[in-house]
Amino acid sequence: MSDAALLQVLDALADGALHSGQTLADQFSISRAALAKRVDHLRDWGVEIAAQAGAGYRLAAPLERLDVQRIRRAVGVDAARIEVLTSTDSTNTQLLDALAANDPQVLFAERQTAGRGRRGRDWVSPFGSNLYGSVSYSFAAWPPRITTLPLAMAVAVARAIEAAGLPEVGIKWPNDLHIEGRKLAGILMETRGEAGGLCRVVVGVGLNVGLSEVQAAAISQPWTSLAAALAARGRAAPSRNALAAALASELLAALRHFAEHGFAPFAAEWKRRDVLRDQPVRIEATMPLSGTARGVDADGGLIIDTAEGRQIVHAGDVSVRAT
Ligand code: BTN
Repeated sequence: MSDAALLQVLDALADGALHSGQTLADQFSISRAALAKRVDHLRDWGVEIAAQAGAGYRLAAPLERLDVQRIRRAVGVDAARIEVLTSTDSTNTQLLDALAANDPQVLFAERQTAGRGRRGRDWVSPFGSNLYGSVSYSFAAWPPRITTLPLAMAVAVARAIEAAGLPEVGIKWPNDLHIEGRKLAGILMETRGEAGGLCRVVVGVGLNVGLSEVQAAAISQPWTSLAAALAARGRAAPSRNALAAALASELLAALRHFAEHGFAPFAAEWKRRDVLRDQPVRIEATMPLSGTARGVDADGGLIIDTAEGRQIVHAGDVSVRAT
């Protein structure tokens, strides 16, 4: 079944209202059975569609599809090469495989079939309810203290979320975006050394925009969505296109800024958003560690005061829990 045929049905349902099965089938000149097949296929993509016997179909929530022209206009065509895919394995994987000569590049996908998180985890990526996007950027040489770049990227994502109406978003070391102890977004940064000393990074962001309980069933940690956090504050859900453009613009600007000045211009904001600062934490690693978090050192390592003295933990295969 072609993506175009499925997207036709999705667009007809996008307003979230109830649509009669017969009217939809007539609109696309297909049988009711063929329509039901398309609906099932959309459900396989992760779209939540309720069927009401004899009445028709409706989406669990209205859906605003990504519009590449809108995003390009908002970001500026000179800023980067920007694309949107209906479906892909992982936007990070795609950009890692893309030509560095075309950097900076921005890629969003409505759905990922093999979305990847940090520490080998999967990233739940149902169609259309969230944002899954990556930016690739080539530095002429390895930037000093590149281990602080993931932290700077978290500041950039926080700024895009703030522009959507949620100023109080925090950062949980190294670069998870949190609100009230729940994860709202995550960042996966991957690095490649290229011929001629070039350093290439791909920064992937997964931002929960309208993730539902059903779609999030496989997520094991406390999570939330931007729509839920905004609704709790009496604010409207953001436009996914405006959010995607803000995210791309902030990441691109932050990458350029980091290339020139390193982490220094981001440090104060990272500190202000640091949700672990002065909190008791436990590091789950081969050698577990408990103590009080005291911010980050010059390399972006987490400073922890333990009973045995000060320790620095580096991002990688560790997980940090507030205790
Ligand atoms: C994390 O574990 O917190 C990082 C999650 C990163 C997910 C994003 S979604 C877009 C990009 N493509 C991927 O496969 N992963 C990142």
